Amino acid sequence: MKLAMLAFCFSFLAVAQVPKTWDEKQLKDWSTPIAGLGVRPGHFTEEEYYASPVDNYRTYPVYAAGRGPEGYFERLKALKPARLIEPEKLKTRAQWIAAGKQVWEGFDIGAFRMWDPTLVEEFREAKSKRIARVKPYSDGRIPGVRWIVTEKGLGLTAENCTGCHVRELTDGKFLNGPGTDDLRAFGMQGVMAEAAKVPGMSTMPLPGDDDQRGMWRSFAAPWVKGDVHEELLTMSEADLGKRFFSAMGPNQTPRWSGSIFYPTKIPDLIALKGQKFIDHSGVHRYRGTGDLMRYAALVSFADRSDFGPHQMLSDVQRKVPFHAPDELLYALALFVESLEAPVNPNPRGELSEAGQKVFAREGCAGCHSGPNYTNGKLTLASGFVPSKEMLKEYDILPVSVGTDPGLALKTRKGTGMYKIPSLRGLWYRGRYMHDGSVTTLEEMFDANRLKPEFVPSGFKGLDKNRAVPGHEFGLKLNDSERKALLAFLRTL
Ligand code: HEC
Ligand code: HEC
Repeated sequence: MKLAMLAFCFSFLAVAQVPKTWDEKQLKDWSTPIAGLGVRPGHFTEEEYYASPVDNYRTYPVYAAGRGPEGYFERLKALKPARLIEPEKLKTRAQWIAAGKQVWEGFDIGAFRMWDPTLVEEFREAKSKRIARVKPYSDGRIPGVRWIVTEKGLGLTAENCTGCHVRELTDGKFLNGPGTDDLRAFGMQGVMAEAAKVPGMSTMPLPGDDDQRGMWRSFAAPWVKGDVHEELLTMSEADLGKRFFSAMGPNQTPRWSGSIFYPTKIPDLIALKGQKFIDHSGVHRYRGTGDLMRYAALVSFADRSDFGPHQMLSDVQRKVPFHAPDELLYALALFVESLEAPVNPNPRGELSEAGQKVFAREGCAGCHSGPNYTNGKLTLASGFVPSKEMLKEYDILPVSVGTDPGLALKTRKGTGMYKIPSLRGLWYRGRYMHDGSVTTLEEMFDANRLKPEFVPSGFKGLDKNRAVPGHEFGLKLNDSERKALLAFLRTL
């Protein structure tokens, strides 16, 4: 009895200690230095962060025409602002995680909030052509958008984490963690921006910018010699659109500070287990829950976007508009860390056992080791030579697997390195390689992908064909060995 009490108190203490999100001490060496610049990206100070207003609003689903509950809109109109998180009600770890799920579902991207009455009217009935174009989820919700009630009244806003890291399964259930495998959420956010005539087709609406400047601010890396993103400033609207959409697709989207020339797949957040770094190029350390809170704050409202002497935002844009309570981000991070993979339907058997032997023989476990099939280390992008200090300070395996070095060397997420991904959940992931250039394991382990005439099923830019270089492990297997290896990989 006494022991049980102790254990209870201990677990309560452990969860009640909410880490500080914007903690100068933690931020100091959180980010990895940028290759070619030799410095870490700048960040807002702790003071700037906490001086901004606290933002904590519940949001509500938007329904397709005729799919919402009876009298839904009238009830919404009558609502007063409510808090997305009410930390004083949370006692146990399970309650914190449940609150984190609500945050996950209700957290919005503040920059997208709009109160324009014509827009509200358009979404209220959801009958306009451009809304009807997007297929609702099977529960009737329109992907990508949410209603929000603040002191300004009822407005529209954009889904945050759930816009990209949720997948609707064929049975109408939702799987939280992996990349969305369709573009419905992005489609709706595009509709919002179009309807409200938000300038700056970009990864964020940026007041005061035209589309070209918005794209440039999203992606340019001015210290890179011959930075390809300079082209964005003079591209026609049509060419910008073509480029942008070439970098998007199921499980794939460029992010702020990433690139539409060197995009990223949407990683599976369930596969964060066993990782020591965040983002494909290891842009930040992952030392514990506090780092996930920092990441969620960074991508949602607190990215200063200074890189040495290069300031990517205008003076007006470069500020923390508001910040979420630490408790909100803590609950969200606990929820993300609690995500579990769905039950694996692929049977283990003779074939997968043979594959396991191939995995061992081919040395895959030199990098993909341990219970999560990753040692969590960073590898070098082709052409990157880390300094002695970097080698000492960072968990680096000083070899290169030779995949496309663009993201790691020519973008603001360019640390010069790629992390070793976990192989758990490969069977449902849907895209492989940091840039999502291949969409099946068959393609990943097909030696033909090294040839320039190869036609990748994933990212290929504006070209019809393109070699998908690097990671040549397992490319020389015979057919039956390859079959066995893939059968094994699908059981993880
Ligand atoms: C517009 C789509 C989009 C939204 C919205 C989004 N993400 Fe992501 N997320 C991505 C992409 C793409 C990456 C990969 C970026 C990279 O590697 O450079 C990523 C990376 C991550 C990572 C690193 C994973 C890893 O394996 O290294 C975490 C953690 C994460 N997101 C959590 C979140 C959370 C929490 C939210 C909500 C606050 C969120 N994301 C919102 C698309 C999105
Ligand atoms: C030297 C370290 C190393 C070895 C050995 C290695 N890998 Fe990898 N693996 C990596 C790195 C690094 C990546 C990410 C590369 C990128 O995205 O640019 C990766 C990516 C992958 C991916 C794609 C995962 C995803 O979600 O994109 C698979 C699948 C994979 N490896 C399987 C294997 C198998 C099977 C073997 C053995 C035949 C193997 N690896 C050997 C380092 C290694």
